[in-house]
Amino acid sequence: MFKSVEESRIQISELMLPSHANFGGKIHGGYILGLMDQTAFACASKHSGSYCVTASVDKVNFLNPIEVGELVTMKASVNYVGKSSMVVGIRVESENIRTGQKKHCNSSYFTMVAINEKGKTVKVPGLRLGSKIDAKRFIKTIIRRESEVKKEANQKEVYKNVDNHLKLLNDYRVEIAIK
Ligand SMILES: CC(C)(COP(=O)(O)OP(=O)(O)OC[C@H]1O[C@@H](n2cnc3c(N)ncnc32)[C@H](O)[C@@H]1OP(=O)(O)O)[C@@H](O)C(=O)NCCC(=O)NCCS
Repeated sequence: MFKSVEESRIQISELMLPSHANFGGKIHGGYILGLMDQTAFACASKHSGSYCVTASVDKVNFLNPIEVGELVTMKASVNYVGKSSMVVGIRVESENIRTGQKKHCNSSYFTMVAINEKGKTVKVPGLRLGSKIDAKRFIKTIIRRESEVKKEANQKEVYKNVDNHLKLLNDYRVEIAIK
């Protein structure tokens, strides 16, 4: 069974209140991450027709601060499906509601896994790619996952044989005081 990207596309908007702000008067990054997680959950649950959990979150760069009173919009779609996992791409924009000026605040990828009532993973529908953008996003995810596997293997190697990598520290502001 296949479902189109359109069928689970989600858009959620929320007005940023003073209670969402940090001491500097800007909106808390953690609050935005929470909204992104909810959006990813809704999108993945719609595609899978199951309850979903967040398995991992890709790097999130906060590109622009969000001000109190701005309208934040999250746009999400399923970019990739595995057997029980789905990668949901989310774009966050904020809008000054008086001027209509919009800012791209961040984009990230959430890996969501479909589970049943017993907590066991369940198979999700395949993805019908209805446009070149859909295909581009699916392929980008395959490439990103492959480079993550390589990165993890490199990091494991460092942990196993740190002595082989100590010279890398020569270019950094550290004093080696290992006894
Ligand atoms: C995510 C979870 C259900 C995976 O369960 P599991 O028994 O390890 O299942 P599997 O190893 O069979 O993996 C299932 C799928 O999840 C994917 N997956 C598991 N861990 C992952 C991770 N850290 N990042 C990305 N994908 C992951 C696997 O690649 C697999 O994908 P596929 O079915 O499409 O091939 C389980 O680790 C879990 O419940 N984690 C806690 C989730 C949670 O509580 N999130 C909220 C945090 S507060």
